[in-house]
Amino acid sequence: MVTVKATDKNLEYLTLDDAHVNPVLSRSARIVVERAQGSYVYDMNGDSYLDFAQGIAVNNIGHCHPAVVEAVQKQVAQLMHTSVVTHNKPYIELAKKLAEISPGKLDSVFLANSGAEAVEGAVKLARYVTGRPVIVNFRGSFHGRTIFTTALTTSKLVYREKYEPLPGSIFTMPFPYTYRSPFRGNEDACVKECLHQIDMMFKQLVHPDQVAAFLIEPVQGEGGYIPAPISFMKELRKIADKHGILLIIDEVQSGFGRTGKMFAIEHYGVEPDIMLMAKGIAGGMPLSAFIARKEITSKWLPGRHGSTFGGNPVSCAAAMATIDVIQSEKLIERAAKKGKEMQDALRAAVGQNPQVGDIRGIGMMIAVEFNEKDGSPSHDTAEEVAKKCFEHKMIVLTCGSHGHCIRLIPPLNVSDEDAKKGIDILEKAIKEVCK
Ligand SMILES: Cc1ncc(COP(=O)(O)O)c(C=O)c1O
Repeated sequence: MVTVKATDKNLEYLTLDDAHVNPVLSRSARIVVERAQGSYVYDMNGDSYLDFAQGIAVNNIGHCHPAVVEAVQKQVAQLMHTSVVTHNKPYIELAKKLAEISPGKLDSVFLANSGAEAVEGAVKLARYVTGRPVIVNFRGSFHGRTIFTTALTTSKLVYREKYEPLPGSIFTMPFPYTYRSPFRGNEDACVKECLHQIDMMFKQLVHPDQVAAFLIEPVQGEGGYIPAPISFMKELRKIADKHGILLIIDEVQSGFGRTGKMFAIEHYGVEPDIMLMAKGIAGGMPLSAFIARKEITSKWLPGRHGSTFGGNPVSCAAAMATIDVIQSEKLIERAAKKGKEMQDALRAAVGQNPQVGDIRGIGMMIAVEFNEKDGSPSHDTAEEVAKKCFEHKMIVLTCGSHGHCIRLIPPLNVSDEDAKKGIDILEKAIKEVCK
């Protein structure tokens, strides 16, 4: 973390923050952001930072997109809240829109406020309709910070330690992270071993008829921006079908155009039973959703789940505007093309550096993984690189079990110039740190 100088105008607020804001919140950059636009945030001094974190993959269309600002301003003057006391038009229109843009036959929507809430709701739905208790998750996953989603999260110890006892009936299987497995360079062998472990789970740990759902991120986010191999997802679908297990796909970080498809699961030719969305859904407004087939949700009786604030009209209006921008500005195609160019440029610039272990991702969900000289994951290198980027006025986040990866999450409409600038800064930072 970078500290500020005494003359810094951020200081007054940072002092107040230190006094009154719960210190459990850890920030990546110690600046106070006053305003933001597009790819940039501006601090109290008026200094600008190229933002390749975008509120952790929330502002997929950049900060304060004018179309979202306008939709919010219009809606806020008309209707802010009804909860489930009545129906409201923005909720219904958004549900219809999400059904249109979701893969396969997913057509029945529940709106909530955060990613974790969407996960919780989906787990309740899966348990209710299957009558089965167990959720199978995958090592390296991140699904949230409520007590149940903490139990489902295995990306890093900091999210779990000292919270035991955590809820049970969760079985954690290995995720095919080929690079950090004994099968580096052999994806097929890694997938085979992960599938074998699922088979062994059914023989040693839990009968498949007790499993309500598999819960998986098609591209692990906090775990290190790791796309699951296509063969693995296809096999998981088959195993789920064989045993009547629901497949819950967590698109909270990978959704809304980020990977060069509206949802990452579209890269796999696999249809989810339940799909989770949040983050990029509403251009910065708080909103999340899960969608399933009506044939599943019709078994969930009224009143078994709900939310006071979930799907408030202002967030729904923001989501409609956001989806419209993603579609009309062709940002999905842009994420695919520009993301590939950025990855290629990074590979050419730093791919040969011995401390750069892996450069990967899909679309604009890109990670650079760092190694120590002995090949082990290097937290310190990733931290130093993030710090250097900040000194060069760019904000990036780390990810991975050791915090050993830098992730790039630019807005999908980042200009060519700013995309190049971001890659140039990262290249410079890596060359300064990994000499
Ligand atoms: C894949 C995934 N699922 C769920 C969540 C939880 O979302 P929230 O922080 O909105 O509760 C996150 C947050 O980073 C996430 O990346």
